[in-house]
Amino acid sequence: MKISIILGTRPEIVKCSPIIRECVRSRLDCFILHTGQHYSYNMDKVFFDQLNLPEAKYNLDVGSGSHGRQTGKMLVGIEEVLQKESPDIVLVQGDTNTVLAGALAAVKLGIKVGHIEAGLRSYDRNMPEEINRILADHASDYLFAPTQKSKETLLHEGIEQNKIFLVGNTVVDAIYQDLEIAKSKSQIFITLGVEASQYLLATAHRQENVDDKKKLAGLVSGLQLVQSEFKIPLIYPIHPRAKKQLEQFGIDTTGITLIEPLDYLAFLQLESKAKLVLTDSGGVQEETCILGVPCVTLRENTERPETLEVGSNVLAGTDPQKILEAAKISYAHKKNWANPFGDGATGKKILKILKNELDS
Ligand code: UD1
Ligand code: UDP
Repeated sequence: MKISIILGTRPEIVKCSPIIRECVRSRLDCFILHTGQHYSYNMDKVFFDQLNLPEAKYNLDVGSGSHGRQTGKMLVGIEEVLQKESPDIVLVQGDTNTVLAGALAAVKLGIKVGHIEAGLRSYDRNMPEEINRILADHASDYLFAPTQKSKETLLHEGIEQNKIFLVGNTVVDAIYQDLEIAKSKSQIFITLGVEASQYLLATAHRQENVDDKKKLAGLVSGLQLVQSEFKIPLIYPIHPRAKKQLEQFGIDTTGITLIEPLDYLAFLQLESKAKLVLTDSGGVQEETCILGVPCVTLRENTERPETLEVGSNVLAGTDPQKILEAAKISYAHKKNWANPFGDGATGKKILKILKNELDS
């Protein structure tokens, strides 16, 4: 079985890392195809270095651009590589343009596609990710659903039961594999001069939030209100997209500690000891839930409803008063919820399933 793992952005590197590690450990015939969607050192290479991952065999260097342009460049480049390498299976993870291009290029060549993190739906078609995840799911041969709910969503959309595998989310594997290393290796508390539970952590980068001046201004005001209420530092490692938009709109960020994007071990360490996390990230909603840290989601909806159900997460949108209210509610929740995203062996399960299916 020859496996091609196609990835291109920060969260895909993190969430594919358990699969890549398992491929290396089991000496499987596997190579990484990086689209180059993310390319800044602190959005890309730092994760390969720190997580000790083998270098990508191919990097298409597509860089940034409009959705059509970026996805089109990926399609052309991925097709060429897949024709040359003829893998038995292409694995994609999540809902980015890289995932759409990877799934589409492979299925058109008649190569089997495995979609990791299948069946998530926000039911919000304004999100580019919603379109990507629906199309990737429907192009795939093996759909690795993280939860019972995501499995049911796929069945409801008419996908055959024998294509769907309930395996959990590889984000749990990544946390279990890296949190202890993060504790021993990361100096982030010293660097930032903060103590456990004595700071708030924020991330925001979603296109529909940060490219809209009113929403971004509301989101920032909400973070400022929360910081004033809790009277402890609010640290925001800022995604390059959000940084660019803040500068362009000239939004005042007084009271918020803006820092560069963090490496994974530093971020994980900071996230695990935060008093409260405010975010519009998909992965961060899951990670806080797994780590037992209360979360506020700066969106009107989520494709991770399990986090709302267990009580780790509260939806706030971008209205400042609603963000403040949600912060108080989320912080007051009992923090003894169960992790709904699996047991940390998802990567192994996925590879075992593929071996059974493809080697037979
Ligand atoms: C992409 C994904 C999103 C995911 C996010 C993870 C899509 C449609 N979006 O959003 O689902 O949550 O990655 O972080 O696939 N930039 C840099 N350096 C980089 C990468 C980007 O400076 O390494 C800047 C550029 O100005 C670029 C902008 O960020 O135009 C947006 O990058 P892009 O990859 O298009 O989308 P993300 O917002 O990162
Ligand atoms: N992350 C990180 N450094 C940061 C912010 C986030 O390592 O400064 C990690 C985080 O732990 C999670 C992933 O990046 O694993 C989430 O990526 P992002 O929010 O960019 O994308 P999304 O999950 O929304 O697609």
